Amino acid sequence: MTNSVTRCIGLSLGADLCWPICYEEILKRLDLQIPLNGQTVSFATERVTIEPFSLTQPCRYDVVVDRLTHWYHTSREWIKKAIVMDDLYVFNNPWSIQSNEKHTTYCAMAKLGLPIPETWLIPPKDYEPTNDLQVTLERYARLFDLGEIGRKIGYPMYMKPYDGGAWRGVSRIDDEQTLRSAYDQSGKNIMHLQKGVDNFDLFVRCLGLGPQFHIIKYDPAAPLHDRYTMARDFLSPDEAQALRDMTLTINSFFGWDFNSCEAIRKDGQWYLIDFANACPDSQVTSLHFHFPWLVMANLRWSIYVAATKKKFRKTLDWEPYYDVLARESTFDKRLQGYAAIGHQRMETEAFQDFCQRHLGHLDQIAREFFASEDAYRAIRLKVEALYPPHEIDAFTQLFFERVQQWFSA
Ligand SMILES: Nc1ncnc2c1ncn2[C@@H]1O[C@H](COP(=O)(O)OP(=O)(O)OP(=O)(O)O)[C@@H](O)[C@H]1O
Ligand SMILES: [Mg+2]
Repeated sequence: MTNSVTRCIGLSLGADLCWPICYEEILKRLDLQIPLNGQTVSFATERVTIEPFSLTQPCRYDVVVDRLTHWYHTSREWIKKAIVMDDLYVFNNPWSIQSNEKHTTYCAMAKLGLPIPETWLIPPKDYEPTNDLQVTLERYARLFDLGEIGRKIGYPMYMKPYDGGAWRGVSRIDDEQTLRSAYDQSGKNIMHLQKGVDNFDLFVRCLGLGPQFHIIKYDPAAPLHDRYTMARDFLSPDEAQALRDMTLTINSFFGWDFNSCEAIRKDGQWYLIDFANACPDSQVTSLHFHFPWLVMANLRWSIYVAATKKKFRKTLDWEPYYDVLARESTFDKRLQGYAAIGHQRMETEAFQDFCQRHLGHLDQIAREFFASEDAYRAIRLKVEALYPPHEIDAFTQLFFERVQQWFSA
């Protein structure tokens, strides 16, 4: 006789509306009873609530899909406690989110040889007055010529916070005068100046969820609902492989199960411009056509992790990547080496085998769900939260139709 166990997946949410409903409903419809190591494993999902907690109280979740840690610190501390005390598995590693700003990610990946545009960090224009500030700056802050740095980097460039996100404080700079006024306006923020990849021929975002990747052609100039384009066949197989391997390298290096990597191609060369996204955009209103991919990838990975009790890596351990860097002499070989570490950490082979054995019906169940009234209502909820009343019907219909197209594409 096999014994039954239920694995509990917690959703730690903020403003997200649509994908959790879809996730919960599809999980329910999947009605999984997975035979594994002499047990029958089923799944429950619950939304994580915010409340006082004892540091020693047990945690009832096996996995938490977290969307709060990057800004809501009570949840971040609860998650850290649950990892340390109760062996919780969480997407994404909270210590890594906390300590690896955009800045470190540029440095670390440049060191591994990934293509990062020339980037400088400049001290802030203004400061919060603190006791030792005056004496510190008088002694050690060197006057610098912003114009000279601008000439070294070259125009156009982008000024953006070293710990950026959500397009906050990002500006494009075409000349020295704009550089000076943007710096004057940057206030207390610590800023990067990054060489602009201009006149590019392709801009993509590569989403990674565990060992699953999806590359989307991105149009930054389009209105929000058209930025993630529905273009297909825009990459050669080799380019797609390289982008997946770079994203896998980044995500496994930093302990991010869910992340997106922005890459721009110019004159046949790729540049990675932003890949520290602890909480990638998961909204149906931006992803539309690609939204089912995200929901299904999230389900597959969280179910696999919960079912197999995949061990959470509390520490990052970068040494194996540096061993590859030292051992191999070409970028292609290095990337292969980094990706091999990534596949090992993400358990790619076991995951694919698991999906084949136990989740073969996911596509069909998801297709049926996404065509349902329930899905329509979930999409509408998100649209209602973002659009003016007179646009709600039209945009709900648009996103709903694009979601259907995913399954017929
Ligand atoms: N080096 C660059 N070359 C060309 N375009 C750039 C560069 N850096 C930033 N951009 C443009 O500015 C946008 C925002 O920059 P970035 O992604 O670094 O900031 P962010 O705050 O993370 O924004 P988001 O939340 O949209 O990802 C990019 O999507 C891109 O369109
Ligand atoms: Mg970005």
